Amino acid sequence: MCGIIGYIGNEKAAPILIKGLKNLEYRGYDSAGISTISKNNIIIEKDTGKIDEIEKKINFDSMGGSVGISHCRWATHGNVTKENAHPHTDCTGKISIVHNGIIENFSELKEKLIKKGHKFSSTTDTEVIVHLIEEHYKGSIEEAARNALKEVEGSYALGVICSDEPDKLIAARNESPLIVGIGKNSMLIASDVPAILDYTNKVAYLDDKEIAVLTKDHFKITDLNNNVKNKDVHTIEWAKEAAQKSGYKHFMLKEIYEQPRVITETLNGRIEGGSINIKEELNLSDKELLEINRIIIVACGTSWHAGLAGEFMFEELAKIPAEVEYASEFRYRHPVLDDKTLVIAISQSGETADTLAAMKEAKKQNAMILSICNVKGSTIARGSDSVLYTHAGPEIGVASTKAFTSQLVVLYLLTLYLSKLRNTLNDEKILDLIAHLRKLPLQLESVLSNDNKVKELAELYSDKTNALYLGRGINYPIALEGALKLKEISYIHAEGYPAAEMKHGPIALIDKEMPVVFVAPKDIYTYKKVLGNIEEVKARGGIVIAIATEGDEEIRKKADHIIYIPKNLYTLSSILAVVPLQLLAYHIADKRGCNVDKPRNLAKSVTVE
Ligand code: G6P
Repeated sequence: MCGIIGYIGNEKAAPILIKGLKNLEYRGYDSAGISTISKNNIIIEKDTGKIDEIEKKINFDSMGGSVGISHCRWATHGNVTKENAHPHTDCTGKISIVHNGIIENFSELKEKLIKKGHKFSSTTDTEVIVHLIEEHYKGSIEEAARNALKEVEGSYALGVICSDEPDKLIAARNESPLIVGIGKNSMLIASDVPAILDYTNKVAYLDDKEIAVLTKDHFKITDLNNNVKNKDVHTIEWAKEAAQKSGYKHFMLKEIYEQPRVITETLNGRIEGGSINIKEELNLSDKELLEINRIIIVACGTSWHAGLAGEFMFEELAKIPAEVEYASEFRYRHPVLDDKTLVIAISQSGETADTLAAMKEAKKQNAMILSICNVKGSTIARGSDSVLYTHAGPEIGVASTKAFTSQLVVLYLLTLYLSKLRNTLNDEKILDLIAHLRKLPLQLESVLSNDNKVKELAELYSDKTNALYLGRGINYPIALEGALKLKEISYIHAEGYPAAEMKHGPIALIDKEMPVVFVAPKDIYTYKKVLGNIEEVKARGGIVIAIATEGDEEIRKKADHIIYIPKNLYTLSSILAVVPLQLLAYHIADKRGCNVDKPRNLAKSVTVE
């Protein structure tokens, strides 16, 4: 959802900006651009297309200067054109800006600025900001930016440079992510951590309506009224290699294969003998947790699917009523909450605007807020009463994989903690569940060792135009996730459905061209019924692919293809079952020649509502 990186230091800025943009490209990839200050002039290079292609056109010799800003775009206002690509400049060509967010009052501002004689060269909302800064400029870019932003309504992460003040880089944020990276004789700004890991692991977080003024060896953060804000400097623990492909063809494949190690990390230090050790991380007292009378989970996309699985865990094991809401719908349907409601916000990035807005609504109503996030220091993490991190490391592929399985594991840990606290499970049962949880990393290795079989299936079905994914109980969200993976990266239409609901609609679609993926590990609840659903598909000529428990011979007789996963408990087998579905989507998309890590129209971190 647009990426920004800015640099000020002793090195030439342009190559640093391009390299940083490549690490941020997952945030937006329809156009990109950079600007630097060279011999007291703003130089801009921008175009539509991929950063690699744009890089080839840049004349790095003419792009001198050791201060600059850059941007990769995911279009919101204005088509994908060179003119609409960032950076944008004012009428004098002395000020240049990049922006991530949406300016809500841009039409009024634009009209006002046009009346004052400003000439616009794009159809973006962003361009009003640079003209507004020009309007306020009286020799201090910092002051002009501050005054301009007082007139702006909406969300922004901004980078600003001015050729009259080549030793300064200005940054500002409101409801869009932006961090300040503190290097050696250099300062950076970026939308996300991976862009700066090559230069520093020290960061300061900007809060809403704050401005940072950076020189190469100093940073100052103030609010819009120029009150200085003291900021802690945080150390990022991610190694820079974690944000590289390390020999894999795509980030997505690397991230799928990382799952055994990631789950080990997620569990690390959180299990002690027979108990779940998350009390310290939960900034909520046992008394508060005992008083919870319901849980509402808010999330988007894949994180919403994790929430749906979490609902099964909380209700089955901890006996707490739980509901899952699309974050984008939640706040507009006037939810009724109180201080006994625990709202869990799940977000890999911790920056998804809809999830953040839902969380704010819940806060207004005094609900307790716990977030499950992957990115440390992200806005959602910082705004919650409590955070449980997934410790999955940077996830770069737009299609979420390792973040999903680690979210499921955190939900499971939380469920066990609450179950013990509320006495819904006895110690013996908890010990047994923990023993099964500990098996996951090795079992995930075993699932991955079947990759070749999944690849063979992908070869067979990559030319299909539709697919159906079915599952029941906790395997229903896994079916939804499998369908989402396939549609987002291969552009094949895929639907996830509760298996028994198939007969109320999707059954009409089944013919000999329709692959139907059943997520059908053996359980005591619905397994037999799912076998019945398989028969129904077969009777109509459909192709059945089943994800089943090792040793299940009954299902083998019914399905056309079978991918086995190791035996585990009902809830935990869902974490194993999703992995072949991730691989299936990956291999099909790769076979179809799709841009797996950067599927069309999608962005990794959706910071606009
Ligand atoms: C986008 C991404 C998805 C992700 C969703 C929620 O749509 O493409 O992969 O699941 O946002 O993101 P979050 O960071 O809040 O988990």
